[in-house]
Amino acid sequence: MPMSRTAVAHPNIALCKYWGKRDAELNLPSTPSLSLTVAPFRTRTTVTWGADADQVVFNGAANTGSEARKILLTLDRLAAARGEARPPCVVETANDFPTAAGLASSASGFAALVLAGNAASGLDLVPSALAVLARRGSGSATRSLQGGWVEWAMGDPDGADSHGVQVAPADHWDVRMLVVLVRSGPKEIGSTEGMNHTMQTSPYYPAWVAQAPADVEEARAAVLARDLERLGRITERSALRMHASMLAADPAVVYWKPETVLALEIVRTARKAGLGGWATMDAGPNVKVLCGAGDAPGLTDALQAAGLSVQTLVPGGPACVTE
Ligand code: DP6
Repeated sequence: MPMSRTAVAHPNIALCKYWGKRDAELNLPSTPSLSLTVAPFRTRTTVTWGADADQVVFNGAANTGSEARKILLTLDRLAAARGEARPPCVVETANDFPTAAGLASSASGFAALVLAGNAASGLDLVPSALAVLARRGSGSATRSLQGGWVEWAMGDPDGADSHGVQVAPADHWDVRMLVVLVRSGPKEIGSTEGMNHTMQTSPYYPAWVAQAPADVEEARAAVLARDLERLGRITERSALRMHASMLAADPAVVYWKPETVLALEIVRTARKAGLGGWATMDAGPNVKVLCGAGDAPGLTDALQAAGLSVQTLVPGGPACVTE
């Protein structure tokens, strides 16, 4: 008897970034990271366990490419964790925001997938096992299972404890994350490829890894103390250092577009004028701005006045099974 279950998950934006793997097979990070889960952006995924044949439908279209293979591999691992073989499955997944544009669609995608797969299969894995499965699908996904402020530690050598852990829930602190949408199309270089290439060729990569643990320690303290200026400074610094390591790769990994630099400049100028906003960027040209609720309208006006498109996100809750 086929069983269908649906789960939803929000993406997350890393304030202290993950960029590089110490173990590619287990998908273990070279650095700890810390993120904010953001709403209302959302992935909705339905898994039918025990269908006639495997099928993956991605944003309304059948997918037989590498994304579909990774999705089905995650369900294979889910079944294997209980010592079972996986039956054919249908996976229907859709994002209500741009996919693969550096807006963390793989994070919300794999978080929703493991929850829906777990519910549909009845295998009933414990949350930490699901968080490890999400990590193996896409590292940042392990942070999207939790709401609010989430830390992903490097963990033991085998990685059983390397997964997202909540530092504070969404309602701990009412901040805003502005998304400056510079490009909505898929990025030119995927994050896995970009980080592997940076690791292999950038002379700045060891420096990036060395500074990360202290940044996460300080960011966690700033979150708990609700100290936005301190957290903002670490956030912007972590993103710029991650991109510096990419720019020094050979050949360079350059995700920036002219509007990326324009947005950074506006945020820095606004800061001098007293508006507290701090920028971060991921594997794509879009800029996100961490700010207080009170400064969000002023920063939005400044960015829009330069012709940039801005959406406002708020702290989001945990991933959950809905149907
Ligand atoms: C720049 O989690 O997409 O967004 O584990 O290879 O799937 P894989 O990478 P992914 O990388 C995210 C990189 C980042 C920073 C971050 O989210 O921490």
